[in-house]
Amino acid sequence: MATSTHLGLRHALVLPQSSSTRVVSSSGLSLCKEFAPVKLKCRGVVRSARGGVVKAVVTVENYVAEKSLGEITKGDFPILDQEVNGYKLVYLDNAATSQKPESVLKALRDYYGGYNANVHRGVHALSAKATDEYEAARKKIADFIKAPTDREIVFTRNASEAINLVAYTWGLTNLKEGDEIILSVAEHHSNIVPWQLVAQKTGAVLRFVELTSEETLDLEQLKGFLNERTKLVSTFHVSNVLGAINPIADIVKWAHAVGAKVLVDACQSVPHMPVDVQALGADFLVASSHKMCGPTGMGFLWGKSEVLESMPPFLGKDCYYLPQTTREFHFCRRYSLVACYDETKIGYFIA
Ligand SMILES: Cc1ncc(COP(=O)(O)O)c(C=O)c1O
Repeated sequence: MATSTHLGLRHALVLPQSSSTRVVSSSGLSLCKEFAPVKLKCRGVVRSARGGVVKAVVTVENYVAEKSLGEITKGDFPILDQEVNGYKLVYLDNAATSQKPESVLKALRDYYGGYNANVHRGVHALSAKATDEYEAARKKIADFIKAPTDREIVFTRNASEAINLVAYTWGLTNLKEGDEIILSVAEHHSNIVPWQLVAQKTGAVLRFVELTSEETLDLEQLKGFLNERTKLVSTFHVSNVLGAINPIADIVKWAHAVGAKVLVDACQSVPHMPVDVQALGADFLVASSHKMCGPTGMGFLWGKSEVLESMPPFLGKDCYYLPQTTREFHFCRRYSLVACYDETKIGYFIA
């Protein structure tokens, strides 16, 4: 008998046989009683000299096989309750995009049905509520990846845009002919094409780390590539093609030793394992909402404050600021790398 402790889903009780009579220990008995789906008929107990139950002979009537996380959570995903081509839908393409649980659909309905308004650009109640929720989401993401401050979270359309943001702002500002960017042959194209474009514009050189026979990154080759010309290592945390996990904290140590920055493509790690940007020590990390049960059209860039501050804006646009919160919003906006205004020149600003 065993319980599944993953994600605290303790009701995933495992009993090896259906409707069998078996002997369980006293701790096993109390465990069985705790879990409702299994009916136990107690046929007799073995007691200790003090009268406590040491063992019990029980008949298990409602055998419950161990439930997978998928089975346990399936009911939360309305899209799965349908037939496709005459078969009950089984969806396995989660690495590409995940389905959305009812709680996410509800949050979207609540927004569009209840307080849809311009974020950071209106003075009315709906806009204030939308702005509060938007900033609460930024805080949630910061906490989720253990960022020191939510100001280091930059919302983007997806992970691809987050990588492009770094390429076009940090990359174009900091790279010159002969500088080297280290990638791997197992990167998603979103972590290759932006660097090819930036390399074309700056004359920087791309170097691709290959794989070992175990289909993990060849770390010795990576270490051998690092030199004083290396300005960036941009690589996956978990590979979308191999499932391999890169030892990011080590890669960061090696890269920082030659003065290079590190960008982590965390698209496949953030949905599946704890990610702590401070423990990883990288300079940038990107991920995408649609791969972690969130809406499509949303991703984020995390960057270290001092690195983000050194980067020019990515997009130019209008925006409104309220006087009492101007400084705060200015900070967020700068970190969104949207060029609106320069507080030192214009002061309070409504555009
Ligand atoms: C490892 C990895 N990086 C980047 C991306 C691109 O993500 P997005 O769709 O958010 O641009 C993906 C998507 O499959 C991915 O798996």
